[in-house]
Amino acid sequence: MRILAVASEIYPLLKTGGLGDVVGALPLALQQIGGASPAVEVTTMVPGYPAIMAALTDAIPIHQFDELFGGPATILQASADSLDLLVVDAPHLYARAGNPYLGADGREWADNGMRFAALGAAAAAVGRGIVPGLTFDIVHAHDWQAAMALVYLHFHNGPRPATVLTIHNLAFQGRYPAALFPRLGLPASAFGLNGLEFHGDVNFLKGGLAYADRITTVSPGYAREITGEEKGMGLDGLLRHRGDVLSGILNGIDDTVWNPATDPLLPARYSRGKLAKRAEDKLALQKRMGLEESPDALLIGVISRLTSQKGLDMLLDQLDAMVGDGMQLALLGSGEPDLEQAFVSAAEWHLGSVGCIIGYDETLAHLIQAGSDALLVPSRFEPCGLTQLYALRYGSVPVVSRVGGLADSVIDANEAALAAGVATGIQFWPATPEALQVALDRLQNLWRDKPAWAQVQRNGMAADVSWRRPANQYVSLYRSLLAAQP
Ligand code: ADP
Ligand code: GLC
Repeated sequence: MRILAVASEIYPLLKTGGLGDVVGALPLALQQIGGASPAVEVTTMVPGYPAIMAALTDAIPIHQFDELFGGPATILQASADSLDLLVVDAPHLYARAGNPYLGADGREWADNGMRFAALGAAAAAVGRGIVPGLTFDIVHAHDWQAAMALVYLHFHNGPRPATVLTIHNLAFQGRYPAALFPRLGLPASAFGLNGLEFHGDVNFLKGGLAYADRITTVSPGYAREITGEEKGMGLDGLLRHRGDVLSGILNGIDDTVWNPATDPLLPARYSRGKLAKRAEDKLALQKRMGLEESPDALLIGVISRLTSQKGLDMLLDQLDAMVGDGMQLALLGSGEPDLEQAFVSAAEWHLGSVGCIIGYDETLAHLIQAGSDALLVPSRFEPCGLTQLYALRYGSVPVVSRVGGLADSVIDANEAALAAGVATGIQFWPATPEALQVALDRLQNLWRDKPAWAQVQRNGMAADVSWRRPANQYVSLYRSLLAAQP
């Protein structure tokens, strides 16, 4: 089975969040199923951003577009870090350093509609066989940036591969004024209620959802939530309508990158049986974040985009109480300027108890997982969430709001779960500062009960958060999809 995955980020070449992690890890996980003769082979098409172009080895041009949304473009076949890639080398669209979506001023590039329509058009062209000898059974698009591939394939006359769209975050849809539509090169019927049209605008994700053969999202919980008005972001009606092809597959983690026993980014490595070694990582983290070097203080880590989705404004409300109770905070994040500034000020105010680093730092993210006692993810909504999965693996007790993939991946340490020896973290609901406060009180009580704490840590580290199970679920989905093809 040959899959053409399409996405706008891929770890380790380019990543702004969990999407990059998943797009980078899933191909290898799929390829490992079936051993020497893999059941599935994945090639991933990505835009030729500078960070991607710089990482390519043995790039071969396999197709030339004289004109792709405003300039010439070449499709390169290449590999990088064991990933098989097709790269859309279109300098007029992608040769811009920095964030893949935003300019230096923090605003979306004005031509993002064209940039990601181009990615979709290129993927659809390859999917329908424009390159001799290169064929695919399934085109699997990730998020709105790739969704147009499925729209172009739908309106292509002639045979096409089967299609899957995975929603990583319904909050991002790729919505543009109707004036873009004539430039997309699609028949007028594509801009209808059952297609790209959304309240008079063009909506890339909606187009993908309308025309995909199968739709998945990154947890079963989120798959249920998005068919309701509250979390459906205006697309719940369409998602209900497509409910028979919608399913949730919980993400896994790449346990070659995220393994505390082998992690080269940690000062001290440890395993489930050698948890005492974590103390060295905690000390290193306290030093790095300017926190008091106290082994007994309950140290809470946060690694996050700073946006309203992540609910960290609620943490700001609770900081005085947390610090008053002797807890410490180590936060790494970037995003909305107001939130960034608020955490910087909080760190100055609570010197030695609150440490905050604004920016993006992969090494520090690993140290926070290994050195924190607990990892907080108080999201208002969370399609899957990866940081709580890394926390489970690293023996940092996750404290999460009961939404989406957070609810699906953490077992709350209530009395019954503690008694049964299955608890892995703490859940709270609703996503309010008051409920967060209750969760932090529960966390502190657990922290004081050292045997119970160690048990919860060890349960988390034993949980299977690898890609094995989800990769098998994707293979089943691909198989059932192909079996259903005419
Ligand atoms: P989302 O994709 O919504 O941002 P996830 O939890 O799925 O949330 O994935 C976030 C990913 O990005 C994780 O790998 C996390 O470690 C990483 N990450 C987020 N913020 C930072 C940061 N400031 N520095 C380093 N890594 C970060
Ligand atoms: C999105 C979601 C996050 C998910 C990630 C990977 O960025 O916000 O919850 O873990 O995609 O699927």
